Amino acid sequence: MRSFQPHLFVILGASGDLTSRKLAPALFHLMERHNELRCCHILGVARSDMSDAAFRDSVRDALHERHPEGSDLSAWCDDHVFYQSLGGGSGYDGLARRIASIEKECGLPGNRVFYLALPPKTFPGTIEALGQANLHETPGWARLVIEKPFGHDLTSAHALNDLVHRYFSESQIFRIDHYLGKETVQNLLVFRFGNALFESVWHRGQIERVDIQVHEDLGVETRAGYYDQSGALRDMVQNHITQLLSLVAMEAPARFDADSIRQEKIKVLESIVPLRPEDVLLGQYAAGEVDGEPVRAYREETGVPDGSTTETFVRLRMEIANWRWRGVPFTLETGKRMPEKRTRIAIRFQPAPVSLFRPYEDTCNVRPNILEITLQPDEGFNLHFDVKQPRMPLRLTPRRLRFRYDEVFGDLPEAYETLLGDVIQGDQTLFVHADEVINSWRLYTPVLEASLPVHPYAPGSTGPNSAS
Ligand SMILES: NC(=O)c1ccc[n+]([C@@H]2O[C@H](COP(=O)([O-])OP(=O)(O)OC[C@H]3O[C@@H](n4cnc5c(N)ncnc54)[C@H](OP(=O)(O)O)[C@@H]3O)[C@@H](O)[C@H]2O)c1
Repeated sequence: MRSFQPHLFVILGASGDLTSRKLAPALFHLMERHNELRCCHILGVARSDMSDAAFRDSVRDALHERHPEGSDLSAWCDDHVFYQSLGGGSGYDGLARRIASIEKECGLPGNRVFYLALPPKTFPGTIEALGQANLHETPGWARLVIEKPFGHDLTSAHALNDLVHRYFSESQIFRIDHYLGKETVQNLLVFRFGNALFESVWHRGQIERVDIQVHEDLGVETRAGYYDQSGALRDMVQNHITQLLSLVAMEAPARFDADSIRQEKIKVLESIVPLRPEDVLLGQYAAGEVDGEPVRAYREETGVPDGSTTETFVRLRMEIANWRWRGVPFTLETGKRMPEKRTRIAIRFQPAPVSLFRPYEDTCNVRPNILEITLQPDEGFNLHFDVKQPRMPLRLTPRRLRFRYDEVFGDLPEAYETLLGDVIQGDQTLFVHADEVINSWRLYTPVLEASLPVHPYAPGSTGPNSAS
């Protein structure tokens, strides 16, 4: 049984959006549920000048709906939350001194989490600075949490892995992909390996195709500076969608632990047939109308350079050349300005081997069974099948079995709550291994380097015409 041990949770990038919107609420929700976690201390770090009191106020502001002033967790901040500026010349040596002093004052055993909630371009410099200041060397344990994206391509991902491994071993590194913290995504393993019914049909003999879709209805909004350098392939496919693919396609692990599960996911990535240009369709949203309102083209959005060829839509088809999946097409698709915000995995089963209802084909259109696992906007699944409609003539009608997590279990934990709890307990199951990152970049780098055409598509549509 894992437990929460006293530690210092150091957030680098503590004045940023991720800290106030996700990390602080997640840590406090965990403390609501687990009293023993109140033994933790939080140290916010950034370049901005700020006092401990000002940082505590910013944390309280982020939490005030659930924990108004005067509540016990609001008061808890007074002697458990601190801030250290990297400015003023003291830099990381100053940070090292502050950490030592907080650990001494608060009687902490030297257990440290370093969470890099920073712009990705600052990851290498920050890791180097932490290492040079010997912050990873401690009488307790040290863990490093790195936000996505992990590298920009194969070369930079290799370089970042090499740098991190200079100071931290793989067992200390937690590469975040917040999709893995969603209940439905974790449930993929239980669904597959806890239910003999599904696993017995989970192969090329019974499955015709697998589609994974991550659709967003919004455009690039305020993220153009980051997004134009990244595009849909780097932002969504290389990490989140590839993680979903691995979980759907992996073999049963020898044990339910981080190493065994991650080994099986890596094998899936190693078995994917290299992508060819004809397997990939890229698109970019043009100007148009959504719900009667005019919508700007991606190229006209604030912060997007003139003539940008960054893709806002990707559809690609791939094949996993192993015994389980050879010949089954996997389609991965993501786009901005799609008709609705929806993330789903659709497993389409083979048709029945004999069409018994052919004499009645006017009324008996037999549809394939589809297992639809939904991640957004609601988490759950639908199993689609045909039933006989009562009375004559013989008529088939589609119906579905429906399960929704929130209807059965109420409010679900936020992905970050689950993931931070795992970091603090040292469980790497839901984090991405170095070899997964490298294999994923190896797969997509030829596509990124191929300068493929980027086709315009109408906002509110399902992508470029040829996507159908
Ligand atoms: N926001 C989200 O919802 C979200 C979701 C998923 C992933 N992420 C990832 O989380 C990371 C942070 O995103 P964000 O939205 O919070 O960014 P942000 O709002 O721009 O905040 C960045 C933070 O980093 C600090 N910072 C910048 N350069 C620094 C440096 N050289 N050394 C130390 N601190 C530095 C900034 O404060 P100072 O300027 O005071 O130093 C600020 O606190 C990114 O990797 C992003 O991809 C964010």
